[in-house]
Amino acid sequence: MSKLLLDVLNRKKTKRVPFWLMRQAGRYLEEYRKLRQTTKSFFDLVYTPKLAAEITLQPIQRFDMDAAILFSDILVVPHAIGHEVGFVEGEGPKLDALFEKKRLPDYNLKQASKKFDLVYETVRRVRGNLDDRHSLIGFAGSPWTVATYMIEGGGSKDHVRSRSWVLEDMQRFSALLEVLVEATVEYLLGQVNAGADALQLFDTWAGALPDSLFDICVIEPTKEIVRRVKAEKPDTPIIGFPRASGSRYLDYARLTGVDAVSIDASVSPEWAAEKLSPHVVIQGNLDPAALVVGGSVLENEIDRTLKAFRHVPHIFNLGHGIVPYVPVENVRALSVQVKNFRRAG
Ligand code: CP3
Repeated sequence: MSKLLLDVLNRKKTKRVPFWLMRQAGRYLEEYRKLRQTTKSFFDLVYTPKLAAEITLQPIQRFDMDAAILFSDILVVPHAIGHEVGFVEGEGPKLDALFEKKRLPDYNLKQASKKFDLVYETVRRVRGNLDDRHSLIGFAGSPWTVATYMIEGGGSKDHVRSRSWVLEDMQRFSALLEVLVEATVEYLLGQVNAGADALQLFDTWAGALPDSLFDICVIEPTKEIVRRVKAEKPDTPIIGFPRASGSRYLDYARLTGVDAVSIDASVSPEWAAEKLSPHVVIQGNLDPAALVVGGSVLENEIDRTLKAFRHVPHIFNLGHGIVPYVPVENVRALSVQVKNFRRAG
């Protein structure tokens, strides 16, 4: 039996629209919260294949999405190459901040595989427990977004430190990008070898860049990762998510070599269907807030999204991740509505 998600990524005609949801495994699920309580830190879950595999499968068991996304985090890559990363309860990630350093530390790419191997083991376990209809999506953060966490020492509202660190010393920044590209390529290829069917690159903070830095920080490193992954795995589709890129989504779609682009809710689905579809498959783009509200608000928003993409290859998803206070019954309603929708043709 073929996989609906892969069919669409290969631009085959399908009757139904495949769907999955960013952050589909997480705190809005009581079964996740229960497992989360059994370990001290979030990373303990990520690096325990048995638990990470179980969490990956939780949303599939409840809602039967067409794809499972590996339960892991984009900060595994900096952690694996020797950058200090921790998660503080209620505060999010805390990292060693490059902003305070003149020189780039010596990262150790060789030691990274020790951490990566645990994630590959999760992928193997999940693949072994998924049937033929479901795809398994592997992922990594894109270098720019991962770099912002390393530079700032955590999340940021404005990313001014990140941008100034780039502008202050381009050579230093390029050296960081190079390390991240190298580690990310190895990490993604490892996930494919372990059984991932498709890959997604999360560039959550692409929209924080001025136009003049977009090519250097987003397009070029993405293109390089795609080129190197495709050189080894030409048949593995790659989805890019340069969140909040506005008009730059078009360059991203034309120039990076990704097969699909995941768009956020600031972009009109009608615009995306017309302008982006000739270049890439579109994934998206329901506002996560509609999923919080539910009822007819949710129903109408889902309907508009589905109809806008009715004639082009489309993977239904949110414009960004599920928030922890989303009621599970709204996710159930979404899954029923998307599965019942019939595409044109
Ligand atoms: O989508 C999925 O279900 C797969 C798992 C996944 C997680 N993080 C699990 C997670 C994925 C794909 C990510 C990606 C990720 N991680 C991104 C890019 C996507 C996005 O949402 O923009 C980013 C920026 C991160 C970094 C990160 N990890 C932050 C900022 C936080 C803290 C914020 C928060 O929501 O708590 C995390 C922690 C994290 N990653 C959690 C989960 C389920 C919550 C941890 C907990 O249980 O306490």
